[in-house]
Amino acid sequence: MTDVAAPTPLPASAASAPHAGSPAGGPPAALDPHALRADFPILAQRPHGKPLVYLDSAATSQKPLAVVEAMDRYYREYNANVHRGIYEISERATAAYEGARSKVARFVNAPSAHEIVWTRNATEAINLVAYSWGRRHLGQGDAVVLTEMEHHANLVPWQILVQEVDGDLEFIPITDEGILRLDVYEVLLRLHPKLVAFTHVSNTLGTINPVREMVEMAHAAGALVLVDGAQAVPHLAVDIQELGADFYVFSGHKMLGPTGSGVLWARRELLDAMPPFLAGGDMIREVRLRRTEFNDVPWKFEAGTPDISAAIGLGVAADYLRALGMDRVRAHERELVAYALDVLPREVPGIALYGPPADVRGGVVPFNLPGIHPHDVAQILDRAGVCIRAGHHCTMPLHERLDLAATGRASFSVFTTKDDVDALAAGLREVQRVFGG
Ligand code: ALA
Repeated sequence: MTDVAAPTPLPASAASAPHAGSPAGGPPAALDPHALRADFPILAQRPHGKPLVYLDSAATSQKPLAVVEAMDRYYREYNANVHRGIYEISERATAAYEGARSKVARFVNAPSAHEIVWTRNATEAINLVAYSWGRRHLGQGDAVVLTEMEHHANLVPWQILVQEVDGDLEFIPITDEGILRLDVYEVLLRLHPKLVAFTHVSNTLGTINPVREMVEMAHAAGALVLVDGAQAVPHLAVDIQELGADFYVFSGHKMLGPTGSGVLWARRELLDAMPPFLAGGDMIREVRLRRTEFNDVPWKFEAGTPDISAAIGLGVAADYLRALGMDRVRAHERELVAYALDVLPREVPGIALYGPPADVRGGVVPFNLPGIHPHDVAQILDRAGVCIRAGHHCTMPLHERLDLAATGRASFSVFTTKDDVDALAAGLREVQRVFGG
C-alpha cells in the first residue's frame, strides 16, 4: 500500500523556489505571496468588475487548488464509506481519511494521530469537551477561567455548562491594547479552577497569547487547559507538545482547508477517560440491545459517516502549509501587519486602529472610521472588490469591554500582498469621500 500519510505532491508554484526551502546554505527565502496566488484560483475572480482583494481570511481562508483537487478526486475516483467496505475503493477512502489524520498530527506535532479527533470545526470540538469532559469533572461551585477576548465559541459552551452544574465563570481581563492581564490571571488561579480555556490568537484583535506560560501557571494551580487555536494554526508554527496544553482545538477552513473540517486534540489519557459525545455507528466496538462497548479513540468520538472529503482536504492543506514553512508564513503576516499599521493611519485620516503591536499580533487589523458604521464601510469597500468583515466578529463581550458597537476587520493569509493593503487604504479613502469626509 502507498504511504497515505506521505506529504501531498504540491503544485509547482507552491513547491518550488523562491518561496519554499532555503537557498543553498542561506536563511529561508521569504514567502512570495505573488507567486503563491497562482495556487488560489478564486483570486482570479472580479467582483463588480474589480480584482478580488480578499481580506477576510480570519472568517474563512481561500483554498489552494491542491485542496480542491484532492476533494474532487475523492468524489470522482474512490467515493465510498470509510472503515466499512471490504473492497478496493472503500479501502482507499479509509487509507486517505486516516492518512489525513496523520498529516494533521504531523502539522501540529501531536504525539500520535490517535489523539486527533475529527470534528466539524473548532466550535464543535469545544462543545465536545464541554459536554464530555466538562459534565464529568465540573460540579457545584467549580470554576472555569476564560478571558475577555474569547470568541463566542469558547464562551457560550462554558456558560451553558456552569449554569447546568451551578459552577462559576471567571475572566482574565485585558488591557486597552488587548493584552491579557497575567497579574489578574495569577489571582484567579487561587480559586483553583478546574479548567482554563483561552484563545491562542484573538480573532478580533490578533493578540498572540503566551500559551506556554499560561499553561504552566494553570497546571501549577491544578487546572487543565483548553486552547482555541482556530486563529493560530493558519498563521504560526504550532507545536502541541511544546505548548503543553491538555486540549487544543482548531478549524480546517481557516487554514486553507475545507469547511466542515476541524480538530480536537487532547492527551490520550484524557480522551480514553472521556465518555462519548455523540453516539451511533462507527464509535462502537460491540453493541448489544442494552449495552455497548465503545471503540478506541479517536473513533469513539466520531459517530456516523464523517465528512470524508473534508478530512482529506484538510490533510492536503496541512501539507501545503508545512511545505511553505510556518515560520515564513508568520514572518510574512507580521510584515503585512506592520505595513498596515504604518500605512493606514498615514493614508486614511482619522482611522482608529485597535489591538497590540505587530510583534505580538497575528494577521488581523480591526479598525473604525469615525462617524461611519462598519457595515457601510464594508459595503462601499465591496464595490471596489475589497472584502472585509464588519460587525462584532463573534466577540460581543470584547467589543463591550472596548466600548465599541462594532469594528471593521481586515485579516490576512499567505496569499495577501502589500498591494491588498494599499487597495484597502484607497477603498477607505473612497468611503470617506462618499460620506463627505
Ligand atoms: N470566527 C470567524 C471570524 O472571526 C468566523 O470571523
